[in-house]
Amino acid sequence: MVRNNLAAITAVGGYVPSTILDNYQIEKMVDTSNEWILSRTGIKERRILKDPEKATSYMAVEAIQDLLKNSGIDPSEIDCLVLATSTPDKMLAPTAPTVCEKAGLVNAWGFDLNAACSGFLYALSTAASLIESGRHKKVIVVGVDTMSRIIDYTDRNTCILFGDGAGAVLLEPSQNSGLKDFLLKTDGKGSEFLSIAGGGSLNPFSKDTLEKGDHYVKQDGKTVFKNAIAAMTATSEELLNRNNLDVADINWVVPHQANLRIINAVANNLKVPMEKVLVNIDRFGNTTAATIPLCLWDFQKKFKTGDKLLLTAFGAGFTFGSCYLVWGK
Ligand code: UT7
Repeated sequence: MVRNNLAAITAVGGYVPSTILDNYQIEKMVDTSNEWILSRTGIKERRILKDPEKATSYMAVEAIQDLLKNSGIDPSEIDCLVLATSTPDKMLAPTAPTVCEKAGLVNAWGFDLNAACSGFLYALSTAASLIESGRHKKVIVVGVDTMSRIIDYTDRNTCILFGDGAGAVLLEPSQNSGLKDFLLKTDGKGSEFLSIAGGGSLNPFSKDTLEKGDHYVKQDGKTVFKNAIAAMTATSEELLNRNNLDVADINWVVPHQANLRIINAVANNLKVPMEKVLVNIDRFGNTTAATIPLCLWDFQKKFKTGDKLLLTAFGAGFTFGSCYLVWGK
C-alpha cells in the first residue's frame, strides 16, 4: 500500500526491572529443570517487578522517560499515548491516564489497548494512523506487561515463560522512511487456548474463581505453539508479497519473543538466516506486549537508516500480524 504521509519511529526507550528470576530459581519452585526450559523455550532468565507498590504504569513511565531522554523531546510536546497491555494497573480506570500524568505528558490524551502479545503491533498501527491522518505530530506507543502478577508460580506450563518489562517508541511524520504496511488479523476461535478465565464480566471475581485459580493465565501450549508458527509465517509472507519484497530485501526480523523454537521455525519457513533475526528471549522471557519494543530498544544500535524491518507477533485471542517498516525518519 503506497502512502504519502508516513509515520516513522524516531526514538526508542525501554525498561526492565532489576530483579532476575533465573531457571535455577524456578527449579526450586516447580518440577522442571534448567535444561528443559532452555532447550524447549530458549529462556535463561526473566525480569520480575518485585516491589508491590509498583505496577504496569511504573514500568511504562520508566520506558517513556528513557525515550524522552534519548530523543531530547520535552514531554509537553507529546500529543497522544497508546498503551498496549494485558496487565493494566486496575480493571478500571485505564492505565494510560496515570502514565500521562506521571510522565508529564501534560498535553497528551491516552488510552489502553489490549491485544495480548500482539498489542504492540496493533497499537503501532493505530498510532501510525493518527500521524498519517495529519491529526498528530508526536505519538508514543508503549508495550508493557507485568506478567508476574497474573502467573501461577506453581504451574510449570506457564511460570517458566513470562517476565516483566516495557518498551516505548516515538512516532513522528516522515516522507520516505517509516511504517510502510501492516497486516493484522484476529481469530476468535483461539480465545479458549490462552486466557484468564476469571475476573472479567463473563466470570467475575468470586470465592469460587479464586479457589479455582481462575485469575491466573492458563494455556494449551501445544495449540498456541502450532498456531503461532503458522500465523506469523503466513502474515509475514503475505505482507512481503504485497509489498513486492523478497525475503532477502529484509535486513532485520523482529519477532514476538514467546519461544525460541517458534522464532526458529518462523525464520526457517520464511528462509531468513538467524543472523537477521533479533532474539533476547534468553534474558527477558516473554514480556507479552513488551517483547517487540524491548527488542527494538535492545538492538537499536544495529539499525541503519534505510534498513528494512519485518515485525511479527502472535498472542491470545488469537491476535496476530506483521508490520513492514523502513528505519529512519
Ligand atoms: O506469546 C504467545 C503465548 N505463548 C506461547 O506462544 C507459548 C507457546 N507454547 C510453548 O511455548 C510450548 O508449548 C511450551 C514451552 C509451553 C511447552 O513446550 P512443549 O514442547 O509444547 O511441551 P509439551 O506441552 O508438549 O509437554 C511435553 C512434556 C510433557 O510431559 P509428557 O506428557 O511428555 O510426560 C509435559 O508434562 O513436557 C512436560 N512439561 C515440562 N517438563 C518440565 C511441560 N512443562 C514442563 C516444564 N518442565 N516446565
